[in-house]
Amino acid sequence: MDQPWWETSSFRIESDRLTLDGHSIRDLAREHGTPLYVYSAPTVRRQVEQIEQALRSTGCPFRIYYALKANRSSGVLQTLRAQGWVGIDACSPREVVHALSHGFPRSSISVTAGMLSNRDLDLLVAEGVHMNLDSFSALQRYAARVAPGSHVGLRLNPGVEIGYGGRAKVAYGNSKFGFYRDDVQRALQVAMDLDLVVDTLHIHCGWGIPQDALPLFEQALAELAAVAAQVRSLEVLNVGGGLGARQQESDTPLALDDWAKALWKHLGPLGKTLACELGTQVVAHAGVLVTEVNTVEIKGDRTWVGVDAGHNVNVYPAHYGIPLEIIAVDRPLAPAQVCYTVAGNLNESVDMFAFDRVLPELAEGDLVAFFPAGAYGASMASDHCMRGWAKEVVVEPLV
Ligand SMILES: Cc1ncc(COP(=O)(O)O)c(C=O)c1O
Repeated sequence: MDQPWWETSSFRIESDRLTLDGHSIRDLAREHGTPLYVYSAPTVRRQVEQIEQALRSTGCPFRIYYALKANRSSGVLQTLRAQGWVGIDACSPREVVHALSHGFPRSSISVTAGMLSNRDLDLLVAEGVHMNLDSFSALQRYAARVAPGSHVGLRLNPGVEIGYGGRAKVAYGNSKFGFYRDDVQRALQVAMDLDLVVDTLHIHCGWGIPQDALPLFEQALAELAAVAAQVRSLEVLNVGGGLGARQQESDTPLALDDWAKALWKHLGPLGKTLACELGTQVVAHAGVLVTEVNTVEIKGDRTWVGVDAGHNVNVYPAHYGIPLEIIAVDRPLAPAQVCYTVAGNLNESVDMFAFDRVLPELAEGDLVAFFPAGAYGASMASDHCMRGWAKEVVVEPLV
């Protein structure tokens, strides 16, 4: 049988068992219970090293801010902190405090956030972290709290809508984010009038940018470059996150090398520091969600499989319509031969993991793994229906 598309050097089938860095997924589930998120520390390290290599190839100075919103579990943050050179992209005061409590220095934390309250601004200014702002209101209220000559970044709305499968929920073009094209000149002027020094221009185009969106991504970079050429105080060009991970076999996310070449082509000539805020690219394929099948039953014309997690544990399929691979933990290579509809355990009709998916035969008590689940899984979880949170563990390779 062909190697499954989702196998990585960490998440593998060994002797017919599903493993992460050599740990049996079944044994981990037995030890910690389900639902369970397991993250691979080596994968996190590999991913940031690949991003570093890609940015190094541009020849520009660069900074990598890990988007903490993607996965804030302590083990993942400790793994990144141990790398020494990865910073944090935070989007709220509590994310900043969380990053500081994991040893990330203030100077390595960048905040990009919108719709900020005065209380948010008070807390963020007190922490002394760099901020990218995206409204006239925030600029004015920020300036009222900081010394004249303080530095600030401006988040621009690049006006392109790119994201996974063209889904509106993950393509941010015409959204609440950023200064719209027509407002950029006024934003620069207002910042100057308020005695703020614009040291950063920022864009973030969407989640899961596909390869075929490269021309649009380049359009956004060209627009960023055009604005950047006018800002004499500029030090950093921050291109946000948005690099995707394959969610299913047919996906072709924008390749890291092509991303880096586009940065070099459009932003390299400006001679500034490049920054990025990648979350998904760092952690998505590092994580797997393990659940137990509690129900297998025919209702109407479907065979239903119920698992012990719902969209409170992982929102991807129900909220965003983003697919997750479903793997039978004890028979990862068994032929897919039964058509199942996989549902979660919440009292919500949207609480579905997959419709009409052909999988190996499943029985009550089986374990099924959802992959990739390292990004925006546990970090977006809730206690809806008082179903509680999944446990999270990080593994290092077995020696
Ligand atoms: C401003 C900003 N930066 C970075 C990220 C991280 O994005 P990704 O996980 O797609 O890399 C997000 C995600 O929502 C974001 O809104």
